[in-house]
Amino acid sequence: MAYRIGVIGGDGIGPEVIAEGLKVFAAAGVAIETIDYDLGGSRYLRDGVVLPDEVVEEWSGLDALFLGAVGTPEVPPGVIERGLLLKMRFDLDLYVNLRPFLHPPSGIDFMVVRENTEGAYAGEGGFLRRGTPNEIATQGSVNTRMGVERVIRYAFELARSRNNHLTLVHKTNVLTFSGDLWERAFKEVATEYSDVETAYNHVDAACIYFVDSPNRYDVIVTDNLFGDILTDLGGAVSGGIGMASSANLNPDRTGPSMFEPVHGSAPDIAGKGLANPTAAILSGAMMLDFLGEEAVADKIRRACSDPGVQGGTTAETGDAIAERVRG
Ligand code: IPM
Ligand code: MN
Repeated sequence: MAYRIGVIGGDGIGPEVIAEGLKVFAAAGVAIETIDYDLGGSRYLRDGVVLPDEVVEEWSGLDALFLGAVGTPEVPPGVIERGLLLKMRFDLDLYVNLRPFLHPPSGIDFMVVRENTEGAYAGEGGFLRRGTPNEIATQGSVNTRMGVERVIRYAFELARSRNNHLTLVHKTNVLTFSGDLWERAFKEVATEYSDVETAYNHVDAACIYFVDSPNRYDVIVTDNLFGDILTDLGGAVSGGIGMASSANLNPDRTGPSMFEPVHGSAPDIAGKGLANPTAAILSGAMMLDFLGEEAVADKIRRACSDPGVQGGTTAETGDAIAERVRG
């Protein structure tokens, strides 16, 4: 039986890197049936469609979603980000955004578990008197006990499957309401995992440690916005953003999970063959892991970590990785 995968190439370099991902799956002999969805900024500019509810419903019959990148400079900020990407994460309840970082030369081997459905991303807030001298804008952070606890529990389980160490990253010294909830939930769940050693870092200090002493980390759990920022830094210190993969997981498997590189659509380099497809290919490996195809996923990861595959055009890098997983 072939896996049924919804494919959203998206904008900019998205379709280019996704094509290489599909090339590598084919070379690895994974049976996949793809269903293409023309969504993103270009589609929106054409006919105003962002992400209809019917499409989200249709996705419930899929095994996973594989996404390149969405967003174009011609569309005002937020339309595609909130209307497409965040709608996917929220509507499909993809509450774990899992972002692994592996870079042996720097001693980096950790995973960030980013809360993916709440926090500052929830969209709470609004304007008063917009455009006047007395205008007010508020943007709150929504933290539910249920939402915080479930992502923390996922992170403890993950730490248990790795090196039994979990760090909470927050800013409890300033965000005394949300920070307090996170800290209490973390400590309470920790009592169920006495085999997992725990630590706490403020997010600003964590930025220093990412650069200075990243080998202190095994698994990190953090909120949506801190996780967004920290994982770009994680990419930058572990081989570059062209290597950074991610999984948006619905761990309860009540619907499909979504797999996408951490990077954006990079319109400045689109169509030039300059994009590194490795992040997308590694995101595909995370998809295969989640589908239970760990052996193939490992093979793809090994191929991606061979320094010999890097340095070429988008297609050359894809070809080199495909060559190594074939057979
Ligand atoms: C990411 C991206 C998104 C985010 C944007 C495109 C909405 O930066 O996946 O990290 O902020 O989550
Ligand atoms: Mn980001």
